[in-house]
Amino acid sequence: MTDLPAPLVRTAVIVVAAGSGTRLAAGAPKAFVPLDGRTILEHALDGVFAATPAQVILVVPAGLEAEATDLAADRPVRVVVGGDTRQRSVAAGLVALAEGVDTVLVHDAARALTPPAQFAAVAAAVGPGVGVIPALPVVDTLKRVHGEDVIAPVDRAELAAAQTPQGFPRAELLAAYAQAAEQGVEYTDDAALFAAAGGAVRHVLGSEEAFKITTPHDLERARMILSSSSQHPAEGPVVPRVGIGTDVHAFAAGGTLRLAGLDWPGEPALEGHSDGDAVAHAIVDALLGAAGLGDIGLHFGTAHPEYAGAHGEVFLARTAEILAEAGFAIGNVSVQFQGNRPRFSARRTEAERTLSAALGGAPVAVSATTTDGLGFPGRGEGIAVTAVALVHPIALS
Ligand code: CTP
Ligand code: MG
Repeated sequence: MTDLPAPLVRTAVIVVAAGSGTRLAAGAPKAFVPLDGRTILEHALDGVFAATPAQVILVVPAGLEAEATDLAADRPVRVVVGGDTRQRSVAAGLVALAEGVDTVLVHDAARALTPPAQFAAVAAAVGPGVGVIPALPVVDTLKRVHGEDVIAPVDRAELAAAQTPQGFPRAELLAAYAQAAEQGVEYTDDAALFAAAGGAVRHVLGSEEAFKITTPHDLERARMILSSSSQHPAEGPVVPRVGIGTDVHAFAAGGTLRLAGLDWPGEPALEGHSDGDAVAHAIVDALLGAAGLGDIGLHFGTAHPEYAGAHGEVFLARTAEILAEAGFAIGNVSVQFQGNRPRFSARRTEAERTLSAALGGAPVAVSATTTDGLGFPGRGEGIAVTAVALVHPIALS
């Protein structure tokens, strides 16, 4: 509960965290709801403290002052009790401003993943008589409605979605808050209140990450962002991984062909340790290669007699399991075979569905081509397959 010495800071950040989180309905005031083992408030404070050095004022619900101080850990914050509207909470924060502060940023704790650079960009643009908000262009097509009726289109080029932190020169913001209190008017945000008192407001570019956690869906989105960015930290940023697999099998003298997870009555079988399904086998190698988990021989070769004669889909299902156990999800698979037969196009959808189901639903695209009579596929001696797979790291619990 200590402030930085006043001469050190010209900027203050008021973090409003006194709301109840009615729409989130998570059983605790919103800022105190866990995101990933840590609370929304702790994540919000991470962003604030990684930004420009500033006096940090934390506005919390009555009775939660000590808990808020604990969550701030050893970081210097002044904790004050908020009011029953956001505007009152900000007003309570303004009372705690340190001497020497001339720029005030007001920030929603609920925008827990706001990038630190957004604070600096807003603070830098504040000037005498000028407030600044971060905002994003609106991407949806907008309509004016009345009840169930759509009345008119709205030109989105004229609109922007406001975020926080919103920055203002201290003296003008205090005057604007005094005027709003005197008139008893509630504004939707600090920029509207500041403008009502005659201040100019400009905007700088906000960011997708600065979205406000309002509904359970927003909370889930924040959790997803955190879990994907915390995976495999030693490997740096999470990037998808690509793998390639090939397989070649000769046609046998008889039997029934098994290819791409389907039976092909009237077509000769492919030779092989298992069912000879070269399409499935190439996919297995592509997936294992993408995840850096070896190859088909390692997991399903002759050292594993339990797979002798097994169908390709069994290999695929086990491969999906091996990847999941190692922390990888399958993005998609694309596979092509070269051969004169079977004639494939009529059964493409059936094959893609079968292979995709074996992989637990990941999309699989299959295509076929001839080789203009060239090489062993062109002479009808066998089939050559190439598969490419994309996988990505997932959170392991
Ligand atoms: N806030 C506050 N004091 C209030 C109301 C809101 O400090 N009396 C803060 C919230 O904690 C939040 C920010 O203002 O960080 C934006 O408000 P909102 O997203 O509406 O949060 P809640 O009011 O908590 O949520 P709800 O409206 O769903 O109850
Ligand atoms: Mg609210």
